[in-house]
Amino acid sequence: MGRIVYVNGEYLPEDQGKVSMFDRGFLFADGVYEVTPVVNGRLVDYEAHMERLARSLAEIRITGAPTRTALDNMHMGLIKKNGLAEGYIYMQITRGAADRDFKFPKDVKPTMIGFTQTASLIDNPNATVGVKVVTVPDLRWKRRDIKSVMLLGPVLGKQEAYEKGAFEGWMVEDGYVTEGTSSNAYIVKDNTVITRGLSSEILAGCTRRALFRLANEQGVNIVERKFTPDEAYGAEEAFLTSASNFVMPIIEIDGHRIGGGQPGPVARKLRELFLQEAMK
Ligand SMILES: Cc1ncc(COP(=O)(O)O)c(C=O)c1O
Repeated sequence: MGRIVYVNGEYLPEDQGKVSMFDRGFLFADGVYEVTPVVNGRLVDYEAHMERLARSLAEIRITGAPTRTALDNMHMGLIKKNGLAEGYIYMQITRGAADRDFKFPKDVKPTMIGFTQTASLIDNPNATVGVKVVTVPDLRWKRRDIKSVMLLGPVLGKQEAYEKGAFEGWMVEDGYVTEGTSSNAYIVKDNTVITRGLSSEILAGCTRRALFRLANEQGVNIVERKFTPDEAYGAEEAFLTSASNFVMPIIEIDGHRIGGGQPGPVARKLRELFLQEAMK
């Protein structure tokens, strides 16, 4: 605690960072967000995150949001003012504060907030031993391609996973894994990485995008298709990706040991490549 946060153009001590109770982010979850990793005081995959933010804003028709320059200044300002070496920047933009009415309010300025979070992204002890996953129902809405702050489905899924002693919940819909509650999901079979293709059913992860590029450069084959929990139980390897975990090996799914209970070679290699690039 004791951070400097950003609220609508101002940098403030975190206990003074406040938004209106009429903010539509609070009343309707009418907003979008981004989480960008920071390694050695530098933003990782920043362009991809800002591109996705612009798309999310356009999809929910928030206009008049802060400019790209304002976004750049906020990210850099938060890193500098908090002396952040490793962790991430969380930021969100909502449609703004107005009298409660489902329709878009007129002449309202979007709310933008941002804060830092320290985390060990490089020397993450979980990555050495691998993590456990359990499957949970996918309770979300139909536009998961939008990085919306409406996260009740993932909150309930992550809590269920936590209560079952797992690190992440893999959400299942119509018998197939969609993605993790806050990550993308992968299995490895015959040296090929399998992950669900992009659609409105999952979020297009920025880490996923970087992983595809790295895998392609290294000649690691990726196939985009759906897989069932049963197929995952029998996989040689499994892993997840996200901005706050990069590539995280999975060693157990619903109590089934994966890869003999050890992080697999493909996941380890992809993680290593990712870390090398992040530390550049
Ligand atoms: C549902 C969901 N899928 C995937 C991801 C991974 O996206 P990224 O790699 O951009 O962090 C996240 C990240 O929070 C997420 O919430």
